[in-house]
Amino acid sequence: MSNLLAPRMSAVKESPTGAISGKVRDLVKEGKRVINLGEGELDFDTPEAAKLAGIQAICNGQTKYTDVGGTIELKDAIVRKFKDENNLVYASDEVIASSGAKQIIFNAFLATISPGDEVIIPAPYWVSYPDIVNLAGGVPVIVECGEDSCFKLTPQVLEATLTEKTTWIVLNTPNNPTGAVYTARELRALADVLAHYPRVLVMSDEIYEHITYDHSHESIAAVDSRLHERTLTINGVSKVYSMTGWRLGFAGGPAWLIRALEVLQSQSTSNPSSISQAAAIAALDGGTDFLAPRMQILRKRRARVMDAIAQSGGRLSCNETEGTFYLYANCTGMIGCKTPSGKVIESDIDAADFLLDEGGLAMVPGTAFGLAPYLRIAYSIADNELEEACNLLVEACNKLS
Ligand SMILES: Cc1ncc(COP(=O)(O)O)c(C=O)c1O
Repeated sequence: MSNLLAPRMSAVKESPTGAISGKVRDLVKEGKRVINLGEGELDFDTPEAAKLAGIQAICNGQTKYTDVGGTIELKDAIVRKFKDENNLVYASDEVIASSGAKQIIFNAFLATISPGDEVIIPAPYWVSYPDIVNLAGGVPVIVECGEDSCFKLTPQVLEATLTEKTTWIVLNTPNNPTGAVYTARELRALADVLAHYPRVLVMSDEIYEHITYDHSHESIAAVDSRLHERTLTINGVSKVYSMTGWRLGFAGGPAWLIRALEVLQSQSTSNPSSISQAAAIAALDGGTDFLAPRMQILRKRRARVMDAIAQSGGRLSCNETEGTFYLYANCTGMIGCKTPSGKVIESDIDAADFLLDEGGLAMVPGTAFGLAPYLRIAYSIADNELEEACNLLVEACNKLS
């Protein structure tokens, strides 16, 4: 009966990160002990004020439909957030709330891409961008940004990739999966190139915004005001506020585009959950002071994983990352190695399979993010579990010959 599926389904595959989580669940069901270093969410709790606001919303009967793009109160909170934290000024018809940042990305591509339009996606990239572009009938133009450029897009590469068919360029800072964070200087250099291409839209995915270690996050539309009119600045409460399950994302951008997103949303999911909207207001208005101790914990975890990588006998290597809770470890040193069962590791997919089978460690191979051979290690799990995972990682690497 699968021939009843529409042709467009061949343009999209299951999210590889979701598939890994499914595999882990299956192994756990079989009674195997697996430590999941593949999950894109923090183990921290949703801030208290946000939880209480959600409960209050339920008790107060805020359980009905709201305006499609979010309540006035939430839109006001989003406008305040962009102004105070990002130096970006938007009117209330220039912001929208959706059921996660993913929905905004999906609707933005659906609303703007005509057949054959090109979308520049620097690799490694968050797994969903190319599939959504494909689904919308566009052409993902993948540009490899390797370790030599700290996994960042350079102005030279951008200039060489832009064509008259380019509709969007996607920037994701802080970056999933590499943890790279663009500086204001780097963004200005990209903006200087984009200034010569006035019809190109900029998607700035800033969902990991405050999860940075050494220098703070910058928004490209604020760094260069020439881009303000054609940048969709995307954010949400999933990562910074540990609210992945509440499904609340938001964006600021030109009114014509925000209106189009609202129209699409009105014919698909309508408003994001009224309860999550109330919780998001409390989260955004509550500030980010609660993050300081969390960042301390993440800093220690990052150091612990870096230490394990250093002890891997050259099987893995990685530079210290600038943000997020991911390390993107180069696993070239595992390729060509033999596992205790005699299998030769030929790719990062084999490396991830070996670590899962031998070490009980789940991580996502770089192939899923468009740049191999790497392993994305998410250190967003409890300290004791991470300690065990690091020991198992070193042990497993030492078993390779
Ligand atoms: C770079 C990036 N953008 C967007 C999202 C989606 O976020 P949300 O949970 O708000 O849909 C994710 C989630 O993993 C992500 O890593």
